[in-house]
Amino acid sequence: MPRKLIIDTDPGVDDSMAIFFALRSPELDVIGLTTIFGNVHTDLATINALRLLEIAGRTDIPVVQGASDPLAGPFKGPVPFVHGDDGQGNAHLPPPHTRPREGSAAAFIVEQVMAAPGQVTLVPIGPLTNIALALRLEPRIAQNVREVVLMGGNALCPGNATPAAEANIHNDPEAADVVFGAGWPVTMVGLDVTHQVNMTRAHLERYAQADNPLAQHIARIVPFYRDYFESQHPGMDGIYVHDSSAIAYVIDPTLFVTERWPLRVETQGISRGKTWPFLGQGDNDRLGPWRGRPPVNVCVGVDAERLLALELSRLT
Ligand code: BDR
Ligand code: CA
Repeated sequence: MPRKLIIDTDPGVDDSMAIFFALRSPELDVIGLTTIFGNVHTDLATINALRLLEIAGRTDIPVVQGASDPLAGPFKGPVPFVHGDDGQGNAHLPPPHTRPREGSAAAFIVEQVMAAPGQVTLVPIGPLTNIALALRLEPRIAQNVREVVLMGGNALCPGNATPAAEANIHNDPEAADVVFGAGWPVTMVGLDVTHQVNMTRAHLERYAQADNPLAQHIARIVPFYRDYFESQHPGMDGIYVHDSSAIAYVIDPTLFVTERWPLRVETQGISRGKTWPFLGQGDNDRLGPWRGRPPVNVCVGVDAERLLALELSRLT
């Protein structure tokens, strides 16, 4: 039986790649896309999610719009220099013909998880606001979800939004701290591993050669995103694989090496958004703010070649 998945997303070039990767994977049954601010404003994230499902011929999958702002304070704004003004590498797609489903993303997540106890996996690949709001609405989703596999955070390496923090967590640190503390099965697929997975120009060229509308769309939107990476990292060839790495984990967790650590998210000062694991042993005097926090899975190693081969095999 394919695994039921809700992808919470801010599409986004790499979100689009992750969504298409999931749609083309027989192990997965995408039962909904919920949208969030991040790479773009939430309204545009919703439009892009609808557009992506039209391209994929999967307008049977509902899109439900999520929060417009973080739990505390306003959204600081999109990143057009990374994903384009339209979040789709400045491809300037026509408006979608379909519409989002009524209701909030948080309510949809609660409804789906509670309707199929132990079956629904949540895959947030944007800021964690909708997930924290769903927990607030119905705390019992923590016992009824199958698993939460999120792209975000940096345990043992620097950030990308700031020297301290990764972009998804930095966009709503308060929500992330709630999600990591909820006592449910969470896996963090963060920069510790995604910065080890480099999809090169030669890899990306395979999308352009592939004769399917999903790969063709990726080939159209990825050059803008690739140029951003190559301008930021002198000598880099291609892109890092962020959001698709979370999809890969759901399909095949043996691609990754994980540790189990309690985790807190810094919400103050210059390190706002930094995910801090407690690396010490057991219950000791140094636990401090980590006292009582459940351990979560943190990806620290990845078989990059095998991950790249998996993703490319599904789309090209
Ligand atoms: C994350 O931030 C966004 O730009 C990407 O879509 C990804 O989810 C990487 O830090
Ligand atoms: Ca994303």
